[in-house]
Amino acid sequence: MLRILTPGDIRMAPGISTEAGSILAALGASKPLVVVDPVVHKLGLAGPALDGLAAAGLSAAIFSAFSPNPTDTEALAAVEMARAAGADCVLGIGGGSAMDVAKVVALLSRHPGSLRDYSVPRIVDLPALPVLCIPTTAGTGSEVTRAAVITDAATHEKLLVLGSALLPAVALLDVELTLSCPYRVTVDSGLDALSHALEALVNRNASPYSDGLATQAMRLIGGSLERAARDPGNLAARSDMLFGASLAGMAVSHTSTALIHGMSRPIGAAFHVPHGMSNAMLMPLVTEWSAEAAPEAYARAARAMGLADSPEALVAALKGLNSRLEVPDLRSLGIAAETFRAAIPEMARQSVASGTPANNLRVADEGEVAELYHRFLDESMSA
Ligand SMILES: [Fe+2]
Repeated sequence: MLRILTPGDIRMAPGISTEAGSILAALGASKPLVVVDPVVHKLGLAGPALDGLAAAGLSAAIFSAFSPNPTDTEALAAVEMARAAGADCVLGIGGGSAMDVAKVVALLSRHPGSLRDYSVPRIVDLPALPVLCIPTTAGTGSEVTRAAVITDAATHEKLLVLGSALLPAVALLDVELTLSCPYRVTVDSGLDALSHALEALVNRNASPYSDGLATQAMRLIGGSLERAARDPGNLAARSDMLFGASLAGMAVSHTSTALIHGMSRPIGAAFHVPHGMSNAMLMPLVTEWSAEAAPEAYARAARAMGLADSPEALVAALKGLNSRLEVPDLRSLGIAAETFRAAIPEMARQSVASGTPANNLRVADEGEVAELYHRFLDESMSA
């Protein structure tokens, strides 16, 4: 079944975040809980949205006490705050962590229990408070997806919460908020967005709907990522990145991710490598391995990115991007070969158990995933 779930209202314009207040008021809300990333808050990037809330006569409670990998305990503290304040909507401002916290708070404010009660395999199609998301990075696409990832504080496991309850009602794409995004965050989140577009295109769940979104996302991101990284104030490049990341998010929200994300998450969990960075590190190798079984699909992806129409050109371009954007390898991250090698069996198990490798056009079993981790290690150490 193809089921299309996207926010009903997506607006993009420089400075649009000031309209958060009037938009929430028009939805009939009057008491927002604002979930804002602590760094974003410190930098004043929530200022225009907060001014807009005040101008619309809305009294906001502000929650910022969460970590870069937010936990269920932190989310529950936000739920407490939302209940105490009588919040009737949630505004998320920041990267994926802030928006994901906002989304689960909207769910748990209306339903009892712990976050684990709502995580996959359950699909959460329940009424939740309306959510308005304002991304400050071009990457995760959480502002347009029906997913949130929150860490279980007790077990350190990443809980995936999925369903229409997690879908924001409104997304505001305000390029001005992304201009001060630092180089490394721009690159890591941008390469995460590129991996969303690529994995949506070469995916067993792809449809004409996701293909259209992912193709345009590949074009926009492929054409602007390096410019946005090197020339941070470049409004056109930042706009293309922001829109491209949202389109990629919409695409991958409808296909799910595939082998790159499937192998990347265990590396992130075991070695604390940022999500976009570990995706980027794996992207050329996984693409090369997968393209053998589906050359035409990868040729289409190469064309979408504005390259010659061959999988080889795509792999070369991904390697070139990583090298020019200084994506590290395992050695430069200080990860010892022996430590990584010892972690491979468990990472391969986790990867296949996540289910995402099964969405890949060439499906890897646990042994093949382990072999790919070994190849990745060898390439990384010999580079
Ligand atoms: Fe991702």
